[in-house]
Amino acid sequence: MRITKRFIQRYLGDNNISIYLVVYPADGQMKTVYFITGNKGKVLEASEKLRPLGFTVVQKDLGYPEVQADTLEEVARHGIDHVRERFQHPCMVEDAGLFIDALHGFPGVYSKYVFFTIGLPGVLRLLDDVTERTAVFRSVYAYSEPKKKPFLVAGECTGVITSTLRGTNGFGYDPIFCPEFEKRTFGEMTVDEKNQYSHRAKALEALVVKLKNK
Ligand code: IMP
Repeated sequence: MRITKRFIQRYLGDNNISIYLVVYPADGQMKTVYFITGNKGKVLEASEKLRPLGFTVVQKDLGYPEVQADTLEEVARHGIDHVRERFQHPCMVEDAGLFIDALHGFPGVYSKYVFFTIGLPGVLRLLDDVTERTAVFRSVYAYSEPKKKPFLVAGECTGVITSTLRGTNGFGYDPIFCPEFEKRTFGEMTVDEKNQYSHRAKALEALVVKLKNK
């Protein structure tokens, strides 16, 4: 039987019903991409974002040196160069950071270190009495396939830093970051909801456009 919008409307007797069809590619048409990371939260977000677009994301925690550099791009490029010498499959690494305007972009490329040292309470203390609390999350992916030149894609999400920790979902700075046009922090959202705004989801959209145009 063919289930059409009209059939469902007649069956449910509601003319204002909206119908969303999510069409997943058949398993045989899915392309596997290895995500080189130890962060399960990142893998979950990438899997949910890329699955409907035809990609299966497989986590591979190979480890690679995260150089201390001035930009996320440099860190990601270094990472992928290291990985592709050892792992000859389609794969990607990602480097992300939170750039707070009132702190002139801090913690930025130092986000991981700051998270594990002063933590979220420490970051909030740095913003005591600060009313202009805008910030941007940035994500840079480096993608590689054997015998092809690796490339980078980036995504951004602007928002504000909250004054307290809110929500227990996600990871890292999620409980203190509220994306623009939203009242909830990333920590108060499901993976799917975060993917509608996040820097990572935007970078992955750019990645898919590049891969499909190759
Ligand atoms: P890295 O990309 O793993 O180096 O991330 C740097 C820091 O930013 C880590 O402390 C992460 O937990 C944090 N981070 C990266 N992406 C996100 C995110 O989407 N939400 C919250 N924190 C993040």
